[in-house]
Amino acid sequence: MSEKVMVTSVPFHRAAVGEEEAQAVSEVIRSGWMTMGPKTFEFEREFAKYVGASHAIAVSTGTAALHLALEAAGVGPGDEVLLPTTTFTATAEAVTYLGARPVLVDIDPATMNLDPEDAARRVTPKTKAVIPVHLGGQPCHMDEIAELAGANNLRIVEDAAHALPSEYRGQRIGRISEFTCFSFYATKTLTTGEGGMITTENPAAADRIRLMRLHGIERDAWKRYRSDGSWRYEVLEAGFKYNLTDFQSAMGLVQLRKCDKMREAREKIAQRYSEAFASLEELVIPEVIPDRRTSWHLYILRLRQDRLSLDRDAFIRSLNEKGIGCSVHFIPLHLQPYYQRVLGYKAGDLPNAERQYNACLSLPIFPDMKDEEIEYVIRSVRDTVRKSRILRTDVASSPIA
Ligand SMILES: Cc1ncc(COP(=O)(O)O)c(C=O)c1O
Repeated sequence: MSEKVMVTSVPFHRAAVGEEEAQAVSEVIRSGWMTMGPKTFEFEREFAKYVGASHAIAVSTGTAALHLALEAAGVGPGDEVLLPTTTFTATAEAVTYLGARPVLVDIDPATMNLDPEDAARRVTPKTKAVIPVHLGGQPCHMDEIAELAGANNLRIVEDAAHALPSEYRGQRIGRISEFTCFSFYATKTLTTGEGGMITTENPAAADRIRLMRLHGIERDAWKRYRSDGSWRYEVLEAGFKYNLTDFQSAMGLVQLRKCDKMREAREKIAQRYSEAFASLEELVIPEVIPDRRTSWHLYILRLRQDRLSLDRDAFIRSLNEKGIGCSVHFIPLHLQPYYQRVLGYKAGDLPNAERQYNACLSLPIFPDMKDEEIEYVIRSVRDTVRKSRILRTDVASSPIA
């Protein structure tokens, strides 16, 4: 019989990488090829197959993926791009790289993703594109977003940094819109340490992205130092240095093969959390929408603040004191100094996002979480709720409404 381990702390994240990844990376290092090359192209082919996309282009970060996709979509100075305020700054920052203006949109309280109706209200003649962000892996309302884009001639660039593998109406995220951008940052569901991928259905855009990720020099420039390559190259554009290395790609290939299994593991943890918390009226568990599958990159719990004496920050502090790592996804961009100073946003502008922000926290969820760790998180959350519960019989309000 296996012995029960006494758990007294759980990190927010532990990467699911091991010997297999180390072996694959070592092989590339021993091969002597240190930058982008055959492994990266293999990773691109396998990734495209996995999500069902026509083209996949590997890049150095998810932020670079967004930058290149927006560039290929023709976003430029004076354009406006719609995106949710509840996202990481990279989503909006990439828009600013091109001299365009991020237009922050409020969120749908149920999914915490971009609200298509609020987006529609913010369309102007300058609006060029929309970036739906699948927060925590929960797919956005893609049909409504496609309808909005169609009616207003907008390009769609999905921010799928959290959405590998997620599905919307039976289709993997990565094959639905013209452009989808993934991140392979250290905490993501597939990691190469740092890295990213763009999938697209547009062959001309795929060529443009390949060109721009490596200095704007033509196709075979990556092998100009190989014996079968040529030293001569032509610079066609002022591009960027955004390529992924072969050792990162070797790691990505191993991770890709484990992707379904890792998702299953996260789903089981999410189910255990939700079963344990569903009966607690003080908590709101993440919604599972029947025609969608989330990657469960994040497990976002929300607090009914009228039923608890602790606010979100104090609730997190209580879990931290028990050794549990938590996070918050995300501080809405319109509350950040840069977006307030440069774009003129202020507190109160996007009320749904603010309400959810004040109520939400993300719990640890990673594939090799041990049984005891899951139980410890559940016990600690229950214990914090029990100690801070406001006993009332007359409350019916919810932070979701
Ligand atoms: C929603 C979202 N978009 C974009 C990014 C940027 O990805 P990267 O860190 O790979 O540049 C992140 C990364 O953390 C993210 O969470």
